[in-house]
Amino acid sequence: MPIGVFDSGLGGLTALKALQEELPKEDYIYFGDTARVPYGSRDKETLSRFAADNIALLRAYDVKAILVACGTISSVLLEGLKEEYPIALVGVIESAVAAAAAATQNGKVGIWGTAASIGSGAYARRLSVLGYADSIAVPCPKLVPLIESGRISAEDPMVRQALEEYLEPILKGGADTLILGCTHYPLLADAIRTIAGEELALIDSGKESVKTLREVLKDVDLLNEQEQGSTRYIVSGSPEEFARQGGAFLGLELFGKVEQQDAENFGK
Ligand code: DGL
Repeated sequence: MPIGVFDSGLGGLTALKALQEELPKEDYIYFGDTARVPYGSRDKETLSRFAADNIALLRAYDVKAILVACGTISSVLLEGLKEEYPIALVGVIESAVAAAAAATQNGKVGIWGTAASIGSGAYARRLSVLGYADSIAVPCPKLVPLIESGRISAEDPMVRQALEEYLEPILKGGADTLILGCTHYPLLADAIRTIAGEELALIDSGKESVKTLREVLKDVDLLNEQEQGSTRYIVSGSPEEFARQGGAFLGLELFGKVEQQDAENFGK
């Protein structure tokens, strides 16, 4: 049985890439809801509907677990979704916060996320539970639209302006660690390092969640033992666009390999 992974678009590929490297024997179904990206500016009700559609689509492929590779859905809905669905659902918050706690030297952790994620307070609450009550949370609404349109270089004036704006409170506040609490943001890691320098530790929320997923599957004895796994890529928007940008990020040729499905009307 495959592992399902979903996000609003390209962001979840940061988790998928880590999964393909660390659990290469698994099969994956990746769903990017690119027709409805961005998620970060939506209300809870809309996000609930999107999450239900995406989970239904992935479950139709008989997945054994789902990685919610989206900081927004993980922040706003994960606990409720876990109660609602009889399938292992792993989000990105807990593992990212644990990694930040391990990385910080001065106890000051910055959090970047979508407006919905930061508004939910999920990352800050979890940090508080671990004793890091002094976090600096910054909503970054400009970043996902830039990333989805392929703009990820520090040379790009709009990218630079947005990163400088969002880094200012983090650096002024003295944080030594920054949680990239939206799975899209690691696509900007090089640009962030160019502007912020190497001192600021960057926590990749998608990548960190892979450890949790591995533990969950190991506990129920569902890790795959085949030689080499495969991945199916499905999007609700343009397959070509996703193949171009997603392929560049993964270092893979995805043209002709991305399928299109309408999550909204799937199975209805
Ligand atoms: N990549 C998602 C997240 O981690 C969604 C971002 C968006 O679509 O706004 O929050």
